[in-house]
Amino acid sequence: MKHFYRYILSLCLIGFVPNLIAQEVYKNNNVPIADRVNDLLSRMTLEEKVGQLNQLNGGVMTGPAAANDEGAQGRLQLLKQGKVGSFLNVTGVEQTLAVQKIAVEESRLGIPVLFAFDVIHGYKTVFPIPLAEACSWDLEIAEQTAAVAAKEAAAAGLHWTFAPMMDMSRDPRWGRVMEGSGEDAYINGVFAAARVKGFQGDFSNDNVLACVKHFAAYGAPEGGREYNTVDISRNSLWNNYIIPYKHAVDAGVATVMNSFNVLDGIPASGNKYLVTEVLRDKWGFEGIVVSDWASFGEMIAHGFAKDGKDAAEKALMAGSDIDMESRVTINNLAQSIKNGDVPESLLDKAVARVLYYKFKLGLFENPYARHDKEKEKNNTMTSSHLDLARKAAAGSMLLLKNDDKVLPLSKNLKNILVLGFLAESQNDVLDFWKGMGDHGDVVTILEGVKAKYPNATVNFLPVYDRDNNLDPSAAKQIKKIAKNADVILGTIGLYGDLMGEARVLADISPAPAQMEMLRLAKETGKPVVVLVQTGRPMVLTEVAKEHGTILNVWSGGIQHGNGVADVLSGDVNPSAKTVMSFPHSVGQIPVYYNTFSTGRPHVDGNEGPAHFWVSRYRDIPNGALFPFGYGLSYSTYDYSNISLSASEMNQNGIIQVSVEVKNTSSIDGEEIVQLYIRDLVASRVRPIKELKGFKKVKIKAGETQKVSFTLSSSDLSFKDDEGNDMLEKGTFKVFVGKSSQDVLEASFELK
Ligand code: NOJ
Repeated sequence: MKHFYRYILSLCLIGFVPNLIAQEVYKNNNVPIADRVNDLLSRMTLEEKVGQLNQLNGGVMTGPAAANDEGAQGRLQLLKQGKVGSFLNVTGVEQTLAVQKIAVEESRLGIPVLFAFDVIHGYKTVFPIPLAEACSWDLEIAEQTAAVAAKEAAAAGLHWTFAPMMDMSRDPRWGRVMEGSGEDAYINGVFAAARVKGFQGDFSNDNVLACVKHFAAYGAPEGGREYNTVDISRNSLWNNYIIPYKHAVDAGVATVMNSFNVLDGIPASGNKYLVTEVLRDKWGFEGIVVSDWASFGEMIAHGFAKDGKDAAEKALMAGSDIDMESRVTINNLAQSIKNGDVPESLLDKAVARVLYYKFKLGLFENPYARHDKEKEKNNTMTSSHLDLARKAAAGSMLLLKNDDKVLPLSKNLKNILVLGFLAESQNDVLDFWKGMGDHGDVVTILEGVKAKYPNATVNFLPVYDRDNNLDPSAAKQIKKIAKNADVILGTIGLYGDLMGEARVLADISPAPAQMEMLRLAKETGKPVVVLVQTGRPMVLTEVAKEHGTILNVWSGGIQHGNGVADVLSGDVNPSAKTVMSFPHSVGQIPVYYNTFSTGRPHVDGNEGPAHFWVSRYRDIPNGALFPFGYGLSYSTYDYSNISLSASEMNQNGIIQVSVEVKNTSSIDGEEIVQLYIRDLVASRVRPIKELKGFKKVKIKAGETQKVSFTLSSSDLSFKDDEGNDMLEKGTFKVFVGKSSQDVLEASFELK
């Protein structure tokens, strides 16, 4: 008996009692996440805590390919020591599972890692670039494509995407405009919210954490040059550039990425005003702030931090959390805390934010839930995903000109001539950020046209090559083959690797060989449709002068060619409107619709001596060639009878704005009806127009629809330099129309 008691006692001492005393609360999913986080934090060494803030580029780290790779082995070693909290660029069930097993089974506390990846416009099913998708003004599509991207990524073991990118930009020289939603803050904001919802859903195993980026104002680099200085006023920050991120935060985005640029001379990663005062304190953001690639360390090159230790401390003090790849944090922060140079409480807060999402995603309960080969196979590139990709592609095609109604093409065409290398190049559609998309899965324009017209003869001539050299026999060949053609489709534009990060171009006009191709096509006397494949608005001034039919097809993802063919044939009636102005000339950039009025305003078209000392170009118009909000359809619309529910509004009131839109054609269509305002006199000069809402409405041939909007005080206020709302009485103009330039107007008084 004595032995029995002694036995019980010893059991208690070696296991049971210590367990009771030090109950592993963090393992219990019946307690609130905050308590689990605190419990886990209390068990972590300083080094392990800092490890959670260390994000490394993973790539292939296990299996034969990595066996002799010292880098990969080194990273795994760090992982085993609890010195890595997340990886980026580890993809696929096999790799993610193998790495997760090491984290869970071989590190002291078994804390799972997060796998992050840039899933920007699809994972394997690649959708149109975000800029193109935004031209659909279709928030449902944006949410759906993000949800599909998330589902495919999650099924490949991923937890986190670095999207949506919401850097509004007025500069098409900047290659990253392809990733955003154009020049307008409101459009960027509503697309940010839709994509956040699509990616994150309810944080299930079919979802991924979203990351709005790049905070803040990354879309305003001087001269459009990548990574360049940003120098904008607080007025512009608060009334433009910062707005989209706020929409994403309000939509519940889990993570935010610092930008590479400086703001007010302070790098964003170390910018306490941005990260702590605005994002966390003013907006109440509680999620993770991750650096951009090495942006903590780059504060040294900026001349803001003197070394890695200083950089790591400044990032933490600013409120930023995870260090992506610069390693200044993992190499220095524990020592800084031991020295008392930064408080451990700040580190704890940052680590808590990372752990919170690991718990939220259920990683402690089931770290391998996303690592199922069968699920990966069944959830990827399904027919419904491909259908969505095709719909999204067709919905993003921007009809810029259709002077002679060459489009839509007849279904009975017998002979089609397709010109231009880009029309058959699978390699030039997906980039940049193609996720795990495969060039081989791309339906090119040529393939799309052939599939749409199976009974027609479809001839193809590349005419120019990848270096834009003109085929010397082009003139002869075009002349010969065009003889029997009913129509010529001339594809011009920019190669896939000329869009995206670091793809800055000073010249965004079509290459001379492409222009020559179009000239030769026109010379045949056959109808010519110009197809512009691009990741940014190009300078199409010469093209528009010479050609009456232009369809800007963007980079439409893996169903690109089918989307193009759907629109050419009229199976889809185009309805997209551009969210970024197409300039007349590079010299005009930045050109955007919501400018201020100068003291000497100029109206395009007003010429003569009375209009000399005004703010204008002598050689080109001030406005864009194709302005914000512009885009044609095979239907035509007439706007009439704009009316307001009242001529006055008080500060808590609302005003209804309505307009009648008639489809004056014989084709059913969809029209994007746009609402703009102008605050005529205010304590700060306000833009000549600001988008405040839109409705995408289906209108049958011959039908008239009344379209209504509601304006309230939040639409009429603007921000001061600290982001506070300013609502000022006075006259407001209201505009409703088919583009930023083609509108009806009315006005009312705010009392
Ligand atoms: C740098 C880019 O700026 C950012 O958008 C991206 O998420 C990271 N690299 C990771 O790939």
